[in-house]
Amino acid sequence: MNRQQHLSLPTLFLSLALLFQLTASLDFVLNGFNFSDVLLYGNATVASRVLTLTNRTAFSIGRALYSARIPTKDPFTSYVYPFSTSFIFAMAPYRGVLPGHGMVFIFAPATGIDGAASTQNLGFLNRTLDGDSDNHLFGVEFDIFRNEEFADNDDNHVGIDVNSLTSISSHTAGYWPPEGTSLSFRTLKLNNGKNYQAWIDYSGSVLNVTIAPAGSRRPARALISIPLDLSEVFLDEMYVGFTAATGQLVEAHKILAWSFSNTNFSLSESLVTTGLPSFVLPASSVIRSKGFIAGTSAAALVVICLGAFLYLFLRNRRQRRAMEETEGLEDWEVEYWPHRIKYEEILAATNRFSEENVIGIGGNGKVYKGILAGGGVEIAVKRFLQEDSGDGLRAFLAEISTLGRLRHRNLVALRGWCKAGGGGRFMLVYDYMENGSLDKRVFECDDEDKLLGFGDRIRILKDVADGVFYLHEGWEAKVVHRDIKASNVLLDKDMCGRLGDFGLARMHDHAATPGTTRVVGTLGYLAPEVTRTGRATTRTDVFGFGVLVLEVMCGRRPIEEGRPALTDWVKELAAQEDLADALDSRVMYRGGFDPEEAVLMLQLGLVCVHPDPGRRPTMRQVVKLMERKGEGGSGTETEEMEAYLLEATGSGCGSLSVHGQGGAHPTLDEVKQSMSSSMSLSWSNSIADGR
Ligand SMILES: *[C@@H]1O[C@H](CO)[C@@H](O)[C@H](O)[C@H]1NC(C)=O
Ligand SMILES: *[C@@H]1O[C@H](CO)[C@@H](O)[C@H](O)[C@H]1NC(C)=O
Ligand SMILES: *[C@@H]1O[C@H](CO)[C@@H](O)[C@H](O)[C@H]1NC(C)=O
Ligand SMILES: *[C@@H]1O[C@H](CO)[C@@H](O)[C@H](O)[C@H]1NC(C)=O
Ligand SMILES: *[C@@H]1O[C@H](CO)[C@@H](O)[C@H](O)[C@H]1NC(C)=O
Ligand SMILES: *[C@@H]1O[C@H](CO)[C@@H](O)[C@H](O)[C@H]1NC(C)=O
Repeated sequence: MNRQQHLSLPTLFLSLALLFQLTASLDFVLNGFNFSDVLLYGNATVASRVLTLTNRTAFSIGRALYSARIPTKDPFTSYVYPFSTSFIFAMAPYRGVLPGHGMVFIFAPATGIDGAASTQNLGFLNRTLDGDSDNHLFGVEFDIFRNEEFADNDDNHVGIDVNSLTSISSHTAGYWPPEGTSLSFRTLKLNNGKNYQAWIDYSGSVLNVTIAPAGSRRPARALISIPLDLSEVFLDEMYVGFTAATGQLVEAHKILAWSFSNTNFSLSESLVTTGLPSFVLPASSVIRSKGFIAGTSAAALVVICLGAFLYLFLRNRRQRRAMEETEGLEDWEVEYWPHRIKYEEILAATNRFSEENVIGIGGNGKVYKGILAGGGVEIAVKRFLQEDSGDGLRAFLAEISTLGRLRHRNLVALRGWCKAGGGGRFMLVYDYMENGSLDKRVFECDDEDKLLGFGDRIRILKDVADGVFYLHEGWEAKVVHRDIKASNVLLDKDMCGRLGDFGLARMHDHAATPGTTRVVGTLGYLAPEVTRTGRATTRTDVFGFGVLVLEVMCGRRPIEEGRPALTDWVKELAAQEDLADALDSRVMYRGGFDPEEAVLMLQLGLVCVHPDPGRRPTMRQVVKLMERKGEGGSGTETEEMEAYLLEATGSGCGSLSVHGQGGAHPTLDEVKQSMSSSMSLSWSNSIADGR
C-alpha cells in the first residue's frame, strides 16, 4: 500500500508535466492571412490574404498579433519554451518617396500599441520606455534606417532587441552561402520589395536568426546566432506578431505567410514560398521634371528687400528687448538632454578660454578647443558673446532640449550646454572635429596636399546632403538649418562631412549684432525669398546647399570682391555651355574622379539655387539623385539623373543667362542634345587647359 502511494506521486507529476506540455505547445501555419487569424492595431490591414502593416500613410504604426496569447514560459520553473518561427515578408518602396523605417517581429505582453511610437522607433516602443526591463518586449528588427541614437551599424540590418531599440546584436541583412563554396557573405537589400523568408529559432538559450530570398533553401549558417536568456523577458504567456512604422519616410511592410511552433522545428517547410505576389517596383521611366519658367534677375530687388528686412528685423528686436523679462532661469535648470555641463569643467577643459585654444571665430562668438578632464574627450566649445537675454535664452534652451537629441552621422553632435554663473554668458559644447572645417580645405589651403580633390569633395557633399535630409525629414519635427555653408561643414577623423551649428538659426534673431552679415543665415547663401519674406523654409536650405555645392566644386567663395557672384558666374558658364570651366582648376589635374559626375554636381547645384523656391528639388530628391550617381548606378538610373538635371539646368540656363534676351529659347530636346555633346567637348578642353 505504502509503496504504491510512493509510486503514484512521481507519476502524478509526470502526467501533470505531460499535460502542461500539451497546453504549452502551439503550432500554426498561415499560408496567407484572413481577418480571423490576427488582431490588428494602428494601420495594419489584411487584403488579398496579405497582411499589410503599413502603407503609404506617413507617421503610422501597424501591428498584427496572433489571435491568441501563447504560452512562452513554464510558470513554475521559468523554463522558456523553445520556439521556431518563420515568415515571408516584403518591404516595398513607393515611387518617388524615400523608404522607411522598418519592421519588427515581436513578442509583447499585451495587445494594442500603447507605448509604441512611429518613425525610427519602428512601432516597437517609445523613447520614454526604451531600455526599461518592465517592458517585457522581445523583437527581431528589420531596420532600413541608420539611427545613431540606437547605435545602428548600417541602414540595412537585422537586430535583436530586448526591451530596447538599441540592439544587443545586429548584422547587415544577408546570408552566408553553403560551406565549401568560395562565395562570401551575400547582402540582401531588405526594402527593395522582394519577398524574403526569415527563420527565428530559440532553443537551449540560443537564438538563431536567418534570412534568405523567398523560395531558396534555408542557409545552413545563421545570420545571427547568440546566447540569450529570455526567462526574465518573457511572461508566462505572450502575444506574438509583427509591428512596423513609417515616418516622413514611408514604405509598405507586408507579411505573406507565417508559421510558428514550439515543438516542430521543421514546420516552416510547409510554408508556400513560391508563386507569391511581388512588390518590386517596375523599372521606372525617365524622371519628369517641369522645365524652369523664365525668372528675372532680382539683384536690385534683393538689395531693396534686404534693407527693408533689416529694418523690420531691428525694429522687432527692439520691441522684444522692451518685453524682456528679468526673472532668473532657475526653472530651466532642470534636467535637459543633452546635459548641462559645469562652467568649472569647461574652464578647465579650455585652459580658462586661453587664446591658444581658439579654433574659430564666428559672427556671435568664439569657438575653443578643449579636453574634458577624466575621459580626455576632445570637445569644441562655442562661447556666445552677448549676455543672458531673458526670453531669447529661454526659447533657445527649450530648443536645445529637442535639437540636442538629433543624432546623425552627418551632424556634429551637441554634447551639452552651459551658462556661466554671474555674467550670464552661455556656451554650447560639441564633439571636436579633428579635421576642421570644409572651407579650410577648399579655400584657405596653402598646403597643396591638404587641398581636397573632387572625389573627396563630392563624397563630403553627399554626407552633407544626408545630414540636411535628416534634419528635414528624418526626425519627428522638421528642422530648418538656415545656415548651410562650407565653414559650417566640419570634417571628422575619418574625413566624413558633418553639418555643424544646426538649429542655431533661431539664435540669430537675438544674437545678431549690427555689423555682422548674419541676418538669418549668411549673405551669399541667402535664398532670394528669405530677404523678401524673412521666412526660412526647407527650400531655403536647399538653396544654401546649392551654393555650398557650387562653392565646393568651383573652389570659389559665393561672394568675392571684384568678381561676379558665384551663382551668376556659374549660370553664365552654363549658358555658354562651358560648365566644366567652372570646376576648381587647382585640383583638376589630379584626376581620380569622374569628370561627368563633377559636372553633374554643378548642374545639381544650379538646380538647387533656382530663384523660385517651388522649382528647387527637395532634399529628398537631392539625396536620391546623388545616391544614384554614387552607386555607379545601373545605366538607366544614371541616365535618368542626367536627363533630369539636363532638363532642369538646360532650360534654366536659357532663361537665367545674363544676356538672355528671352527670345531664343531652344526646345528641351535641343538643349539636351547640345548640352550632352558640348559637355564632353568643353570638358576635354579644360583638361587640356589644366595641363
Ligand atoms: C478565414 O479563416 C477561418 C478559420 O481559419 C476559415 O474558416 C475561413 O474560411 C477563412 N476565410 C477565408 C475567406 O479564407
Ligand atoms: C492606408 O491604410 C489606412 C488604414 O488601413 C487606410 O485608411 C488608407 O486609406 C491607406 N492609404 C493608402 C494610400 O492606401
Ligand atoms: C493610421 O493612418 C491614419 C491616416 O490614414 C492616421 O491618421 C493615423 O494616425 C494612423 N494610425 C496610427 C496608429 O498610426
Ligand atoms: C510612452 O508610452 C508610455 C506608455 O503609454 C507613456 O506613458 C509615455 O508618455 C510615452 N512617451 C512618449 C514620449 O510618448
Ligand atoms: C543555432 O545555430 C547553431 C549553429 O548554426 C546550431 O548549432 C544550433 O543548433 C542552432 N540553434 C537553434 C535553436 O536553431
Ligand atoms: C514537422 O513539420 C513538417 C512540415 O510540415 C512535417 O513534414 C513533419 O511531419 C512535422 N513533424 C512532426 C513531428 O510533426
